[in-house]
Amino acid sequence: MPAFTARAPGKAILFGEHAVVYGRPAIAVPVTQVYAKVTVIALLAAPEGQILIDAPDIDLQSDLAHLPDTHPLRLLFNTLTKALGIKRIPALRLRISSTIPVAAGLGSGAAVSVASLRALAAFLGRPLDDEQVCDLAFEVEKAYHGNPSGIDNTVITYSRPIYFRRESPFEILNPAQSVTLVIADSGIASPTAAAVAGVRQRWQSDQAHYEALFDRIAEITDSARQTLEHGLPQALGPLMNANHWALQEMDVSSVELDRLIEAALSSGAYGAKLSGAGVGGNVIALAPPERAGEIAAALSQAGAVRTIVTTIQQASH
Ligand code: PMV
Repeated sequence: MPAFTARAPGKAILFGEHAVVYGRPAIAVPVTQVYAKVTVIALLAAPEGQILIDAPDIDLQSDLAHLPDTHPLRLLFNTLTKALGIKRIPALRLRISSTIPVAAGLGSGAAVSVASLRALAAFLGRPLDDEQVCDLAFEVEKAYHGNPSGIDNTVITYSRPIYFRRESPFEILNPAQSVTLVIADSGIASPTAAAVAGVRQRWQSDQAHYEALFDRIAEITDSARQTLEHGLPQALGPLMNANHWALQEMDVSSVELDRLIEAALSSGAYGAKLSGAGVGGNVIALAPPERAGEIAAALSQAGAVRTIVTTIQQASH
């Protein structure tokens, strides 16, 4: 029996993280330099229903049945089999590898979900379309994270730049020109659920202030959309800075992230901000293409454990 393999990219949020949880718009892009890859292989000699998980990158080798009920892979199998109306699964091995850093705001969890759903559905002879994959990955995110906006599973499933608003159909963005980004990992793990819960707590104690911050971010995001689709890439820089200031006010930045942002700006970036849940994780800097290497070096010097240079491609007309 053949093996079934699927891949899904990482992602970065360009504008609007956290505010998107509260119904404001956000912009996200795929980061194809990193990806999750999942292969499903039949275990011909094993008893029906046995599922072996093999994920060396996160040191996980286990029978699915031995993982806690709340483990995302348990949730994923339950979600998928329920959606497909399948009761019996042939014995299989699920091999997961990923180059996306975990808990760093690059969508590692959603990418593993999307790739697993695609590979498993193909293995079961019930391939899913993108909309189904996106919906099922969202179910897994919800069970795992509590209150995700749905932006991660959407940008990763479709692998295109998106303008996303909760409860509305997402829109694919067509950049007028290519945009070069340097992504830098602070090396500080920051689980999304904890950062989102922190914002929720502060929002509860000062709703007026937080709602005003979310509105300010929504305006920035809408200007950024206009700029991305009709303007010059460098004009996104000041908007990224302004978005970062609002995130600082929401208390989701940190000394380490601010130091990275400072390093990017003083080595020639047009703008920079944290990306994703914050607290730790990644920052993104908007770079003149010819200075991306220099900015990446400055970010490493300032403490980044890893940098990725990525380009949002100009839309083909
Ligand atoms: O998965 P992360 O760390 O990129 O965070 C997702 C962005 C948030 O807005 C903080 C949460 C959400 O569900 O949209």
